[in-house]
Amino acid sequence: MNVAEFGLERWFDKYEHDADIMLAESGIRSLDASRFDLDPGTLGYVIPTNGDPEFRAEVGERYDRSAEEVAFTCGTQEANFLAFTSLMDEDSHAVVVTPTYQALHAVPEAVGSVTRVSLEPPEWELDVDAVADAIRPETEIVVLNNPNNPTGRYHPQEKVEAVYDLAADADAYLLCDEVYRLLAAEPLPPVASLGEHGISTTSLTKAYGLAGLRFGWIAGPEDVIEGALQWKDYTTISPGIVGQHVARQALGADEDEILTENRELAADHRDRVRAFVEDHGLSWHDPVGVNGFVSVPDGFDDSEAFCRTVVEEESVVLAPGSMFGYDDYFRIGFGLPTDELEEGLARVGDCIERHRA
Ligand SMILES: Cc1ncc(COP(=O)(O)O)c(C=O)c1O
Repeated sequence: MNVAEFGLERWFDKYEHDADIMLAESGIRSLDASRFDLDPGTLGYVIPTNGDPEFRAEVGERYDRSAEEVAFTCGTQEANFLAFTSLMDEDSHAVVVTPTYQALHAVPEAVGSVTRVSLEPPEWELDVDAVADAIRPETEIVVLNNPNNPTGRYHPQEKVEAVYDLAADADAYLLCDEVYRLLAAEPLPPVASLGEHGISTTSLTKAYGLAGLRFGWIAGPEDVIEGALQWKDYTTISPGIVGQHVARQALGADEDEILTENRELAADHRDRVRAFVEDHGLSWHDPVGVNGFVSVPDGFDDSEAFCRTVVEEESVVLAPGSMFGYDDYFRIGFGLPTDELEEGLARVGDCIERHRA
C-alpha cells in the first residue's frame, strides 16, 4: 500500500517553525489547558479501549445512535483512516468530493480506487448529478467534508440528503467529515443521524480549539464501527486517557460557553478577512468555519509563488491552493488570536501591494 506525500503537512514542516505568524492553521485558536481539570486519576489505557461506554452513549445520542455505534479515536484523522481501511479493499471504489483535506482522498486512493467529483468554483457548489455519475457497482463509500476545507462551503441539507440517498441506493455509505460543523451558526443534522448508510467523523480539534487532546470519534452503523475497531487495535489501541477526561468536560457543562465563544470569534474574524479580501481586490466564497479560499493576487505566477513570497518576505505562512489542486487560490486560516490575525493581514496586504506596483 503506497500513500501520496501529504503536501500541506510537508509545506508546514518547511515553514511553520521559523515563521512569525501562522495564517494557515485551519482550526480555531487553542484553548488554555488551565481551563480544565487535567487529572484523570491513573494514567492507564482507556478501558474498554474503544472508549468509556457511558461517554460513548452520550456522544451517540447526538446521532440517535447507541454506545456501540460510536468509537473514540485519536482525532478525525484516525476516525477517517479506520473508516477507509475497514470498508475498502483493493477492489473497492470511493467517490470523493474535492477539493478537500488530502487524507480524505489519499487514504482511499492508497487502499482502493477513487473517482473525484469537483466542486464548481467560484461558489464551490456540490453537483449531485456528478456524484450519481461517479458511483459504480463496486463503490463502497461516498466522501464529503461539510463544511468544506479548504473552501468554507457549507453544502445545504437537501444536497447532503440527495447524496445520502444516492449512497444508500448503491448500498454504499456516505461518510461526512464534520470536524468544522459546530463552527456553523446553524449546524445541519450530522450525516450519521440520517440513517443506516450515514457515517460521521469529527473531533474536538477545529470547533472547540482542542487539537492537542487528539480526541475524536466515528459514529455509524455497528458493523462499520466493529470493522474500524479491528483496525484500531493496530493503530492507537485506545484514545488517550487525558484526552477523554478533558473531552467529557468540553462536551459537558463547558460546551455552550466554548462553542459560543468560538463562533463569535470566527464570525468577527470572517468580517475582518472579508474586508481584507475586498480592500485588495481579491475574491472568495464567503466561508463557514475559519478557512477561506482566496484568489491569488496579480503579480504572482501561481499559488506557491505567492505563498513562498509571503513567507520569505513577511514571515507569514499561508497554504497554497496547489496543495488542493487549485493553483490560482490560497487558503487563509482566520481562527487565530485577533492581534495575530490583524498583524498577519497587514503584512500580507503590504506584500500584495508591493508586488502589484
Ligand atoms: C477536514 C479535516 N479532517 C480532519 C482533519 C484532522 O483533524 P484532527 O485533529 O481531528 O485529526 C483536518 C485538519 O486540518 C481537516 O481539515
